[in-house]
Amino acid sequence: MVMMVSMKRIFWSLIFLCFAIGTAHAQQVPIIPLPQSVQLQSGHFELNAGTRIFAMDAGAQDNARILQQSVQLALGLKLPLVLGAPDARAKNLIVFADAPKSEVATNREAYRLHISPQRILFEGSATAQFYAVQSFLQLLPSKKSTALKLAALQIDDTPRFAWRGLHLDVGRHMSSVAFIKKLLDQMAQLKMNTFHWHLTEDQGWRIEIKRYPKLTQIGAYRKETMKGKQFNPTVGDGVAYGGFYTQEQIKEVIAYAAQRHIMVVPEIELPGHSQAALAAYPELACTPGPFEVATTWGVFEDIYCPSEATFQFLENVLTEVMDLFPAPYVHIGGDEAPKTRWKASAVAQEVMRREGLKNEEELQSYFIRRVEKMINSKGKRLIGWDEILEGGLAPDATVMSWRGEEGGIAAAKQGHDVIMSPTAWCYFDAGQGAKEQEMWQLEGNITLEKVYSYDPSPKELSREQRHFIRGVQANVWTEYLPTPEKIEYMVFPRLLAMAEVAWSVQSQRDFAQFEQRLSPHYARLSRQGIAYRIPRPVGLDDVKSKAGMLTLTLQAPVEGSQLFVSVDGSEPDTRKSAYKKPMKLKLVRGKNMVVKVLTVLADGRHSAVQQAIFSGVKK
Ligand code: ACM
Repeated sequence: MVMMVSMKRIFWSLIFLCFAIGTAHAQQVPIIPLPQSVQLQSGHFELNAGTRIFAMDAGAQDNARILQQSVQLALGLKLPLVLGAPDARAKNLIVFADAPKSEVATNREAYRLHISPQRILFEGSATAQFYAVQSFLQLLPSKKSTALKLAALQIDDTPRFAWRGLHLDVGRHMSSVAFIKKLLDQMAQLKMNTFHWHLTEDQGWRIEIKRYPKLTQIGAYRKETMKGKQFNPTVGDGVAYGGFYTQEQIKEVIAYAAQRHIMVVPEIELPGHSQAALAAYPELACTPGPFEVATTWGVFEDIYCPSEATFQFLENVLTEVMDLFPAPYVHIGGDEAPKTRWKASAVAQEVMRREGLKNEEELQSYFIRRVEKMINSKGKRLIGWDEILEGGLAPDATVMSWRGEEGGIAAAKQGHDVIMSPTAWCYFDAGQGAKEQEMWQLEGNITLEKVYSYDPSPKELSREQRHFIRGVQANVWTEYLPTPEKIEYMVFPRLLAMAEVAWSVQSQRDFAQFEQRLSPHYARLSRQGIAYRIPRPVGLDDVKSKAGMLTLTLQAPVEGSQLFVSVDGSEPDTRKSAYKKPMKLKLVRGKNMVVKVLTVLADGRHSAVQQAIFSGVKK
């Protein structure tokens, strides 16, 4: 009987959670990324108009304000915020505090969130408290109410990896500052902490450099953009395209990210992917030019020449960049730099003779080492794509492994830090399902499950070597993603899977459990205006069955969504084919039935039409 009462209470406390009392599994609380430890306790905390928030210091006060504002939005309650420590016996409190000295976590991102009947405690460094708030907010119900009962629990949580990244290419297509802020908001909710901003490309230089105004006057604009890959030879759209971020806008993004405990790492591509810079300053190339900002996608042969003029230019550019970005890292690209021009260049060949370099790979390595010296001289560290291994790694370089994991494995074996970002799991410009059932489909097929399946810690490495794997990152390349809606469709929900790859304990991760926890997040993403890929309805699977009667049972994939079904191969009609209950279908032997389903969200947004084939086979 007592058991029944407390079960009921907990049920109502965490309204939208269904878990059984006594089973203290993190998987049953829909927090993404999955916390390391969740202990459900007895009783509940009632959050109401009498609840007061205490912040022990200024860092805590920032977090307390975020919570205050979020509670006001969610519940319509403006809770008073007090700076200082509460009375030890006081109740109905929310307290933000440093971790006690005896329990000071070695990881400044590790947090404790303790909901007891008397108080809610957010504990840890300012960053840790921020993450505790993110977990807490994911426990709030979506519907407004003036009081809220929260089941008592304790979460102790710490990230698996230090670098939890999202990369965005703004060279091919530029994103607005407002859209970048929207992405940063999403990252923060998922405890992602690194925004890798790919700022320069063959098709556009996007960062204002005061000393070299032509980089943006000329390098930020292309005369047109190639139409899709299907046009061979390439056809342009005839529409000029371009833009750049002023240094003020860059500072605005950095500050916005910092408030969300996100580091912004700039990428300035060298020696390749630099045609836009060469269009502005052709004297930096090995041939006279002229060059134009690229209008097609690909890898281009015109790259920086390894001349003293180039090194001086790069030093000046990188100095301005390093003065702007507080991050301890600068990404210098290093990928996809063909050596054609260097092979034919007297200047490049003379550098090789002078430095005793055997081939152009060693010349690239020399190039990167010189750039690393510039970066190190400002107290910062260099990161590059895995091509920087070729010809020998610069002494302190961090390797971002993208052409598979091999580069990362080789770098870790040499004692270098590694960020794993292999194309097979981490490239969010790849498609995510059967082509004809997607809104946008590019090459490749990296499903949500595939992203989730990634373990960034390769078996080939020893325990010690695995320590060099600093983290993992998703990359968004924008050749074929010209709009925020397309980017959102490619990034969500895959970013939620990547957040869990980056944060959660490998042995606790399970895709089926993740999908269950993900379910309420779709409604959250909708409320936050994210045009995510709408998942397939549950139950829409290919069937091979004996001819005869069959029941089609579907479940809407997002709370409040409506399904529309056709079984004759036509497009589902939103005026008359709403799915209301399981449908009886007649399967004919030797015939295929094409079942098509359209999902329409409460806000009117449509999925792509998704389908399954039902085949009637012999009895
Ligand atoms: C890359 O995808 N070229 C790093």
